[in-house]
Amino acid sequence: MASGSGSNALAILEYFHCREDILVVLVASNNSKAGVLSHAREKHVPAYLFTPNELGYKQLSEYFKFLNIDLVVLAGYMKLLPFELIELYKNRIINIHPSLFPHFKGKGMYGMNVHMAVKDANVSETGITIHLVNEEYDAGRVLFQAKTEVLQSDTPEAIAQKVLHLEHQHYSEVIESYLNELHHT
Ligand code: GRF
Repeated sequence: MASGSGSNALAILEYFHCREDILVVLVASNNSKAGVLSHAREKHVPAYLFTPNELGYKQLSEYFKFLNIDLVVLAGYMKLLPFELIELYKNRIINIHPSLFPHFKGKGMYGMNVHMAVKDANVSETGITIHLVNEEYDAGRVLFQAKTEVLQSDTPEAIAQKVLHLEHQHYSEVIESYLNELHHT
């Protein structure tokens, strides 16, 4: 599920392309202008546009059930998921956040806000956190973190670039190992 440019989704689509054991079966977005929809089409994966209201999420869950999916991957999905969906896919929704938990997370901490806050705080490192999604915002089990150095000379944009690079490097592998973990439990 993604709402924006979908560079993470693209990295994931490319990583799992032509695999027989792990398939990306659907790309779902709430935003008709999201770049992620064209990435899905380019990679011949069905792109599904839905309205993020009660009916929209109900139909989306039906579609997920029909496709028999194991894992919901959030890759820049900008809306809060409804409780019903989180319950239905308990421990089966994974998200990536562009900071090192417990820092720079929670309400308002998304996109460039995170990197501007990192810059303002004058910290020497930042990074990514890949975590499970539960009812509490940004509070599910942490599966993976990776760090990158923040230089005095780094602008928020430069920090964003470094962090996005880390995301592309690691998200697919973490998805793969978590799917393996799920299959062995
Ligand atoms: C990423 O920074 C991710 O951490 C956050 O949303 C952003 C999505 O970027 N959850 P993209 O659409 O994958 O380029």
